[in-house]
Amino acid sequence: MGAEELVTLADIQAAQKLLSGIVRVTPLDESPPLAARLGGPVYLKCENKQRTGSFKIRGAYTRIARLSEADRARGVVAASAGNHAQGVALAAQLLGIKSTVFMPTTAALPKIAATKGYGASVRLRGLTVDDALVAASRFAADTGAILVHPFNHPDIVAGQGTTGLEILEACPEVATIVVATGGGGLLSGIAAAVKAISPHVRVVGVQAEGAAAFPDSLAAGQPVALAAMTTIADGIAVGRPGEVTLAHVRDLVDDVVTVSDEDITRALLLLLERSKAGCRAGRRGGGGSADGRAAPFHPTGGRGALRRQHRPVVAASGHRARHGRGRSLPLLHGPVRRPARLARRAAHAGRRRRRERPRRLTPAC
Ligand SMILES: Cc1ncc(COP(=O)(O)O)c(C=O)c1O
Repeated sequence: MGAEELVTLADIQAAQKLLSGIVRVTPLDESPPLAARLGGPVYLKCENKQRTGSFKIRGAYTRIARLSEADRARGVVAASAGNHAQGVALAAQLLGIKSTVFMPTTAALPKIAATKGYGASVRLRGLTVDDALVAASRFAADTGAILVHPFNHPDIVAGQGTTGLEILEACPEVATIVVATGGGGLLSGIAAAVKAISPHVRVVGVQAEGAAAFPDSLAAGQPVALAAMTTIADGIAVGRPGEVTLAHVRDLVDDVVTVSDEDITRALLLLLERSKAGCRAGRRGGGGSADGRAAPFHPTGGRGALRRQHRPVVAASGHRARHGRGRSLPLLHGPVRRPARLARRAAHAGRRRRRERPRRLTPAC
């Protein structure tokens, strides 16, 4: 399969069969705090409840299980800040294959420990995933180990795409799916699955604005590397999309938007606080943004209203925002800047023509 060839529904359904009994079908939980702000149902795809704590096991297992016997004997190598590392390590362990994982020196200690715990040989190299990827590619060239790329491979995209099938199975009436995006494997897979079954569903990628490689790459029509990256969302800090994922995002994804670290942090705190508080579904006052401030948003009508029949889903990915070296905070969903505004705009994007160049979201208030 060439970089321009897109993963098909049949590929993703085959991956789903392969993954049956290996990965969990994670819950799609309704989020009352977000629903209250949007005036319509919002669901979180809880991949934080997936084995290894993220969706990454889906792609990693699909890729490794499809290796020939000869390639399996060579072992696998990967580069990751943590989630793909754990996915590859567990998949390799389940399949009885030797794995080596390169992680940046900035990787969170619990992720390093977990990766080792799944049996991988861990090597710390560079400051970013891109640095670790260079080291992993060199290791593959030197030793013959098979590189399990974190996103830029059709089998990875097919595996991640099984998340999209599960979302559609659990919520066939979904109108918009919002996906945390780094290299774009999850976004590509979900878009490939969802657009094949329900082409009217909006699929929107969300990148941290300090590490958003897709906007420029989409505009240029080829992967463009970022000169620098700064974001607390270490799991999605990828400086350059792949050819495979760029082709999927270009052809299948409706929009890619960016969010600030400040808003990622606010959204994280909102979900942590409100989930813990067992928030009820009712609204408080006239609505609010993710940080609790009043927002010019009306649930059932008025300018910018989210129609009730629109059912946005935030695709969860078990992300962990780094909070100082070695410490991490669980982020139960992908990064969302003022979720009300993001989901509202994403839902309304369906009535606009797809833009060539992704647009930057601006603060609601
Ligand atoms: C928790 C989480 N969410 C989203 C992503 C983005 O995945 P992708 O690189 O496939 O876009 C990652 C990548 O590691 C991740 O760990």
